[in-house]
Formats: sequence, C-alpha cells, structure tokens
Amino acid sequence: MNKDKLIIALPKGRLGKSAIKKLIATGIDPKIGEETRKLIVTDETNNIDVMFVKAGDVITYIEEGVADIGVVGSDNILEERPDIYTLKDLGFGQCKFAVAGFRENPYPVEGRPLRVATKYPSVARSYFKEKRQPIEIFYLSGSVELGPIVGLSDVIVDIVETGNTLKANGLSVLEEMMDISAKLIANKGKYRFKMNRINTLMDALERT
Ligand code: PRP
Repeated sequence: MNKDKLIIALPKGRLGKSAIKKLIATGIDPKIGEETRKLIVTDETNNIDVMFVKAGDVITYIEEGVADIGVVGSDNILEERPDIYTLKDLGFGQCKFAVAGFRENPYPVEGRPLRVATKYPSVARSYFKEKRQPIEIFYLSGSVELGPIVGLSDVIVDIVETGNTLKANGLSVLEEMMDISAKLIANKGKYRFKMNRINTLMDALERT
C-alpha cells in the first residue's frame, strides 16, 4: 500500500451511514456511499482507502495500525479502553447506556447477585462496582433484551437510542448510566506520522 494513503475504518450499520454522509460532505468521493459488497473502497483523487468493518472491530484495526483513523461509538471505547487517540466527537450517534428490565419487578431476589445480561461486561462491572451491587454477568453478543424475558437475567445493561427495542419487548429504562456518541479515533503512531492529512480532514469535518 502507498504509504501516504489515508486509511479510514468505518463501521457497517447506523453509525457507518452517518459517518459516510459526513465524509462525503467534506469532499470524499461519494462512491464510498454506494451499496457494494466490496470491503475496501478507494478514493483515488484524495488518496484514501475506506474499509468497512463490523462496528465492534473498528478499534482492533485502529489499535493495530491497519487503519489510521476510524469512527466508533464511545460505547466501544468505554468497554475496551484501548490505547488510541480519541480525536473528535462527530455530533451523531447519540444514545445512552442504561440498566433496563421489567419496571414492575426490577430487582427481584435479595441475597444473591443481580443477574445482568450485556454486550458490555466491563462497563456493567465498573458501574455496579461503584454502587457496591454484587452482580453476575451473562455475556451476550446481541439481542440482549431477551435476557429478562426468558429469565436468563434480572436486568440488562445496553445501549438505548430510540427506546423502541425496549418498548417492543415490554422493558423499561430503570437507570440511565452515561451518554454515548460517535467519535473519530486514531492509531497513535499513525496520527503522528500523518498529522497534517488527519488534521485537514478534521478541519473539514468541523465545517460540515
Ligand atoms: C442496539 C442495542 C439495542 C438497540 C437499541 O442493538 O443493543 O438492542 O440497538 O436501539 P433502540 O433504542 O433505538 O431500539 P443493535 O441494533 O446494534 O443489534 P443487536 O441487539 O443485535 O446488537
């Protein structure tokens, strides 16, 4: 690969779509927004490669320096606490971490740890540790709302954006934990090496 090329990792899904819109507004080739099964799309004019990866994998590509910069939800940063630079809040992807469950019977059993289903075990552990609430974690990789419904857990710790998923499954927010939003992140070494290019892109994002 050409060493001056800027390599950007974008998450597939909701966050990725907003990120693409913003990048196109800065002058990046609109073909990065076209539907394709291609995983790397090149913008020859601006000398940029865009990699499309699973949201939960963006940090791995950045930490390892495979991509120079990327877009990720702060939920993943809080969970993984990676050794990267968080350069900028991107002004989209706003949602919250919350404890959710059945409102009428949220914390049913005394004398045993609270059973928590989550995709974010580290966030859940530190939150309940601060509250001195003993917990047992059940790690799930998605559809965590099922936890309380099928009796796997008492509550969930998850992202709430519109609240539609909770509502559709008869669950409610019991405690709001913290705000989440999309961040521009960078590999530390690559940032130092490509500082001018990255700062120029950040300035352009600021103007969108
Ligand atoms: C996320 C999250 C919730 C849902 C919240 O899941 O884990 O399930 O979105 O959004 P809402 O408040 O707007 O309904 P995602 O869509 O990433 O799918 P997953 O459950 O398979 O991880």
